[in-house]
Amino acid sequence: MTDIVSYNPYDLPLRDRHRLLTGAVGPRPICWASTLSKEGNANLAPYSFFNLFSSNPPIIVFSSNRRGRDNTTKDTYHNLLDNGEVVVNMVSYDLVHQMNISSTDYAENINEFSKAGVTPIASEVVKPFRVKEAKVQLECTLEDTKHLGNEGGAGTLFICAIQKIHIHTSILAEDGLIDSQKIDLVGRLGRNDYLRASGDAIFSINNPFEKQNVGFDNLPKGLVESKILTGAELAQLAMETQLPSEEDLLNHQEETPDHEEKLHQMIREKIKEGGYQASLALAMNFYKR
Ligand SMILES: Cc1cc2nc3c(=O)[nH]c(=O)nc-3n(C[C@H](O)[C@H](O)[C@H](O)COP(=O)(O)O)c2cc1C
Repeated sequence: MTDIVSYNPYDLPLRDRHRLLTGAVGPRPICWASTLSKEGNANLAPYSFFNLFSSNPPIIVFSSNRRGRDNTTKDTYHNLLDNGEVVVNMVSYDLVHQMNISSTDYAENINEFSKAGVTPIASEVVKPFRVKEAKVQLECTLEDTKHLGNEGGAGTLFICAIQKIHIHTSILAEDGLIDSQKIDLVGRLGRNDYLRASGDAIFSINNPFEKQNVGFDNLPKGLVESKILTGAELAQLAMETQLPSEEDLLNHQEETPDHEEKLHQMIREKIKEGGYQASLALAMNFYKR
């Protein structure tokens, strides 16, 4: 009896495959893509098969998919292939409902800026408009296109180089970087669900990339097999960049309890206060390393 259900994706009807995968891979950032048609009509539509893929050169990629119901392609797709320019506008929580309106399947000549009630402003490098209200607007040119298939649901990847970055100063912190709380981004989940990245949903984790960490494999085995401590708690100890010294071990000798359950409870309390070295010293003393 297993509690995992497994699928070959090709055995699933397209709709179910799409819904399972978009429920699993998330939250996805949203590219609110502004393009211009050959005739010069403004177009605005959201795309969550999207991310930043390179800083040097600065590259974003998003995918416009063939419609599952009739295998047709979208206006953004045609506009990019026609003139190779797009402005990627980032979607903050205050814009999420207007973004949603712009995803409606309007005819090619309908201006989604007007439908969604957002303000088109001129770009500096490319011809498509920026969304004035978007806190970040990225002017981009098309670098490369990759068609992933010819059937309904197939994506076309648009690999785009960022030529200009516009940022509302209201979302900047004192150090000139973007304040995660102020930009208040939204991400796309499965179903009709979204994530608002603000308040308690945002947390920070220190990661001294340049230094090697201790890793789970160097923690005492009895600690790793704990029935009390969670993987997340143990990971905070495994993130330490060195094990306690002989002196540290001696300093914690007296404090080391003789019951395993007590030890794990003590370590839990110490982890809460950031006492990672002390936790490791107690564990190493208890398990004699
Ligand atoms: C939040 C959100 C994310 C979306 N992401 C995608 C996507 O990644 N790829 C896609 O083809 N359609 C996506 N859509 C659907 C398109 O926005 C929709 O088909 C739209 O009408 C296309 O507009 P266009 O023809 O003006 O390009 C998304 C819709 C929403 C609301």
